[in-house]
Amino acid sequence: MRALKQRPLLVMGNWKMHGDQAKVRALLRELCAAELSPGAPEIAVLPAFVHLADAVRVLKGGPIAWGAQDICRHPDGAHTGDVSAAMLVDYNCRFVLVGHSERRRSHGEGDALVAAKFKAARRAGLQPVLCLGEDLVQREAGRASQVVTRQLEAVLASCTPRDLRPVVLAYEPIWAIGSGAAAGAEQAQEMHALLRGCIAARGLEYARDTRILYGGSVCAENAAALFEMPDVDGVLVGGASLRAQEFLAICRAAAAFQAR
Ligand code: PGA
Repeated sequence: MRALKQRPLLVMGNWKMHGDQAKVRALLRELCAAELSPGAPEIAVLPAFVHLADAVRVLKGGPIAWGAQDICRHPDGAHTGDVSAAMLVDYNCRFVLVGHSERRRSHGEGDALVAAKFKAARRAGLQPVLCLGEDLVQREAGRASQVVTRQLEAVLASCTPRDLRPVVLAYEPIWAIGSGAAAGAEQAQEMHALLRGCIAARGLEYARDTRILYGGSVCAENAAALFEMPDVDGVLVGGASLRAQEFLAICRAAAAFQAR
C-alpha cells in the first residue's frame, strides 16, 4: 500500500467559527509546544480571519502552517466584509479552503463562484483546497459520484494547465460533517479514486501530484485506517482539531504511516 502513495500526507484543522482570542491563543500555544518528528506530515490550521494574526505570531518559524477558510473572488475593491487573496498572502497564509459545503449551503455559493475563488487563490500564490461532497439525499439516491464529479469538473473546466499543479481536494460528504459518523475508509477510497480519475483525464502527471484529503468526523480513532487507503492523502479535521491533543494524535498517526 505504501509504495502506491507517493504524496506527502497533509493534516489540516478547520477551526470554523469557534472560540475567542483566549481559546484560540491557548490552542495555538499547545500545538506550538508539541514535539513533531522531522518525518511528520505537512500540518496546517485554518483559524477564522480575525485570529490569523495570532496564528502568525505563534506559529511563525515552526512546522505548522496556517491558512484561511474562505476568500473573495475579486482582487480588491469595494467588497464589504470580504477578504482578498492578497490580504491572506500578506498574513503568510499557505492554504485557503474554497467551496466548503457550509459556504455552499448557507451562503449560496455555486460552482461558478467556487471556480472563481479557486482561481483567485491560485493566481495569488495560495494553495486552494477545493472541498467537494454530496448530501445524504444525493447519496441515498445513488448520485454521490455524479455530484462530486460535477463540482470538480466545474472548477477544472475553468483552469489552465498551470492552475492544476498541484491540486488539493477535500472530499467531505455532508452527511459525515459534524455528525460523528465518518465515511468508512473504503467508502472514502472509492470516492477519492473517482476524483483522481477526473484529474487524470487532464494528464496523469496532475493526478499523481494531486492530494485528496478526506473530511467529515475525522478523529484520533479513525484517522489511521484512512491513511492506509491508497488515494487518501490526508485529512481535513473540524471538531477534533479544536482539541490540541486529539489533533496532534491524528498528526502522529500520519507520521507513523509515513515513517513505514
Ligand atoms: P468535522 O468537520 O470534522 O467536524 O466533521 C469537517 C469539516 O467540515 O471540514
